Amino acid sequence: MNHYRDAFLEHLNTCITIREPRRLYEPIAYILQLGGKRLRPILTLMAADLFDTDYHKALDAAVAIEVFHNFSLIHDDIMDRASLRRGKATVHEKWDTNVAILSGDAMLVRAYQLLESYPPVVFAQLAKLLSQTALQVCEGQQWDMDFENQKQVSITDYLQMIRYKTAVLVGAALQMGAIVAEASTENQKLLYNFGVTIGLAFQLQDDYLDTFGDDSFGKRIGGDIIENKKTILFLKALTLADESQRVALLQHYATIIDSQEKIVAVKALFEQTGAAEKVRQEIENTTNEALEILKKLTILAEKRKQLKDFALMLMSRKV
Ligand code: IPE
Ligand code: IPE
Ligand code: MG
Ligand code: MG
Ligand code: MG
Repeated sequence: MNHYRDAFLEHLNTCITIREPRRLYEPIAYILQLGGKRLRPILTLMAADLFDTDYHKALDAAVAIEVFHNFSLIHDDIMDRASLRRGKATVHEKWDTNVAILSGDAMLVRAYQLLESYPPVVFAQLAKLLSQTALQVCEGQQWDMDFENQKQVSITDYLQMIRYKTAVLVGAALQMGAIVAEASTENQKLLYNFGVTIGLAFQLQDDYLDTFGDDSFGKRIGGDIIENKKTILFLKALTLADESQRVALLQHYATIIDSQEKIVAVKALFEQTGAAEKVRQEIENTTNEALEILKKLTILAEKRKQLKDFALMLMSRKV
């Protein structure tokens, strides 16, 4: 995996230039150089490699995906009132909200521009997939915010929301690599579905770590609780709670208050109701579902193993 990451980082650096006006370009360089796991671009390169194409051909698509992802994080941090990202100040905290909006917009445009290096037929397929995905991410993000104030949210609603806000981009990252490699439509679809399914597990894990992670997570622990996010932990806790736990949980989520006590109390409820344990199981089940899809892909066994290891690695991540 390291050679994909190294190749990606080297190419990313050639794509970042700071020019005037600096308050437009500096935040872009800042967020892209803050680090992060680089999961999506690695998947793009890996996907191209699966079909015996030189993965370097997929570098522009990989950077496009990462730039799009980072754009979505800048705007997400405004919407979630988050001050910490990858252990550092978020763009709207370091600069201001207007700067964060505009730099984000420029990154969305830049993501499409990076695809212009591909031949017209490939470009058209990549741009079509990115547009479909980007619109779904917006839909998912709106559901996420709507749910903060909505009394009843079912697990089905939640799963649809995370499919859109997070999972489809993971699917698209893989499919873009497959498009560049001109893989069969059948393989493209399977790879996309595999990606969406590990993307679901990935967001479940993100919800889990938001409460149960440590400092290395790089985001404020308990941030979702403060924002009254209807995460999988909250929804599972509600279905498992006895009457007094249920009342306590709902009371906490009816308050808009930034307090450490609220985080401690809700975290305890997530544990006492058994929700934390249930979510761990759900992450494992979803990862296993992804591995079933993988079996149908017609690729070499060693390449299949690479994807399997990636899915298993995601499940045990702490960052
Ligand atoms: C964070 O994504 C946003 C989610 C979809 C949960 P990552 O956890 O991949 O963030 P970085 O890029 O590694 O920082
Ligand atoms: C992120 O969901 C989804 C997108 C950025 C599109 P979260 O709001 O859970 O992501 P983090 O936890 O801030 O990274
Ligand atoms: Mg967020
Ligand atoms: Mg969010
Ligand atoms: Mg999160």
